[in-house]
Amino acid sequence: MNRIALVTGASRGIGAATARLLATQGYHVCVNYVRNEAAANAVVAQIQSDGGQAFAVQADVSQEKDVLHLFQQIDRYQGYLHALVNNAAILMPQMRVEDMTADRINHMLCHNVTSAFLCSREAVRRMSTRHLGKGGSIVNVSSAAARLGSAGEYVDYAASKGAIDTLTKGLSIEVAAEGIRVNAVRPGFIYTDMHASGGEPGRVDRIKSSLPMQRGGQPEEIAEAIVWLLSDAASYVTGTFVDVAGGR
Ligand SMILES: NC(=O)c1ccc[n+]([C@@H]2O[C@H](COP(=O)([O-])OP(=O)(O)OC[C@H]3O[C@@H](n4cnc5c(N)ncnc54)[C@H](OP(=O)(O)O)[C@@H]3O)[C@@H](O)[C@H]2O)c1
Repeated sequence: MNRIALVTGASRGIGAATARLLATQGYHVCVNYVRNEAAANAVVAQIQSDGGQAFAVQADVSQEKDVLHLFQQIDRYQGYLHALVNNAAILMPQMRVEDMTADRINHMLCHNVTSAFLCSREAVRRMSTRHLGKGGSIVNVSSAAARLGSAGEYVDYAASKGAIDTLTKGLSIEVAAEGIRVNAVRPGFIYTDMHASGGEPGRVDRIKSSLPMQRGGQPEEIAEAIVWLLSDAASYVTGTFVDVAGGR
């Protein structure tokens, strides 16, 4: 039976690197995206040309009906869901807390937190031995921001990642005896498009000299940690956090 891995937000950045690496491990990868169909199809095409298996599914994971549709597509695919990477997230323009509207804060929490809860819920319903599943593994993509707070930039984003850390801890204990491991990776400053959506495309280069390793990270370096946590090599690891942040 094929092992399926779902990576949310896999059309670009860390999600795309993770999808590509998971495919080399034999996973059939569901490449989720919200808007950029061409980029998602390019990730699928690259995986296939390298001899792997992948398929793309459009879904806004902050919306419950889209999440249900996403998992229905996985149910139709031959195999069973064994891995979930809650990777999709947004960043909004840099701003102090005193200037944030309720709409902005709610939008952030819905996209970065509700989404991970909904996808985890659907995954647990399929993976848990309590529901006659075969077990599985979930990795949440948090951020060093959960520890650092992102003062003057986006405390709302940092708080959303704090919630992801709490989801990781709580869910890991809830399903530990049901064959499911739940862990998180906390990337630091990684070269992706995300910083442009925060209004500062060159953010990693601005910050890099202040980091202990004095460089930004690459999406592939985050993917390595995610794929290790998902793998059987991490079979006794749950409820934990791997910081991949160049020493910050
Ligand atoms: N980059 C960093 O420095 C950094 C640092 C710490 C943590 N992280 C975390 O790492 C993860 C990936 O970040 P990234 O930098 O790779 O981001 P990115 O380059 O901005 O890519 C975001 C991805 O998420 C998808 N997406 C966004 N909202 C979605 C939604 N509602 N439903 C489905 N897909 C959605 C996008 O799809 P489309 O292509 O269709 O728009 C895209 O594939 C995030 O959780 C982020 O918070 C990143």
